[in-house]
Amino acid sequence: MSKHLIAPSLLASDFGNFQQTIEMLNNSEADWLHVDVMDGLFVPNITFGPGTVAMMHKHSQKPLDVHLMIVDPDRYLEDFAKAGATYLTVHAEACTHLHRSLQRIRELGCKAGVAINPHTPISAIENVLDVVDLIIVMSVNPGFGGQKLIQQTYKKLRQLRLMIHETPYNPLIEVDGGVNMDNAAELLEAGADVLVAGNFVFSSENPVHTIEQLKSLQ
Ligand code: DX5
Ligand code: ZN
Repeated sequence: MSKHLIAPSLLASDFGNFQQTIEMLNNSEADWLHVDVMDGLFVPNITFGPGTVAMMHKHSQKPLDVHLMIVDPDRYLEDFAKAGATYLTVHAEACTHLHRSLQRIRELGCKAGVAINPHTPISAIENVLDVVDLIIVMSVNPGFGGQKLIQQTYKKLRQLRLMIHETPYNPLIEVDGGVNMDNAAELLEAGADVLVAGNFVFSSENPVHTIEQLKSLQ
């Protein structure tokens, strides 16, 4: 029995067919649907707003893992909570009062996530662990799918595991960017609980089978 979770990233799916894709994922071993929200400021790319997320929520039987790559995310927390996010994640680099933003996410009834970019040390989130349910370790620079995983990620995951071990808290650790069958087992071994996979799933011939392969590791 695998304990880890798989979250296919809709960023790599066909934007003209969300309903069909989500129905396919409903009938797969995917645990969550990863939704990348980009504003063209925090990252160069632009993707979905709360309206699109609400539509995804309507069709999905799986929890939505909403990853906000936007500046000053406090402005939109309520909208994405109402849209149906189960996990709502902000970037540590985008929040002036990170602890408050995470508290707010929980107040809105969502699980609170914090993401850190490849250059951000894990010490940046050491003092918010009391209000965090999910930590997203970015294994690529955010903005685009289909990039190569940064090798430093393994060390960072191991360091993060140790840091959390010293506390009474038990957030899930998710790794996001460049995940595939060549690195997934090592990422799990280094401490990841949740694997996001975009291109590896949706560029494959049979996404349902690819999800099954990722899920059957360990
Ligand atoms: C990158 C996004 C990722 C992306 C992952 O900015 O946060 O979630 O969709 O895609 P792949 O798996 O293709 O690297
Ligand atoms: Zn993401």
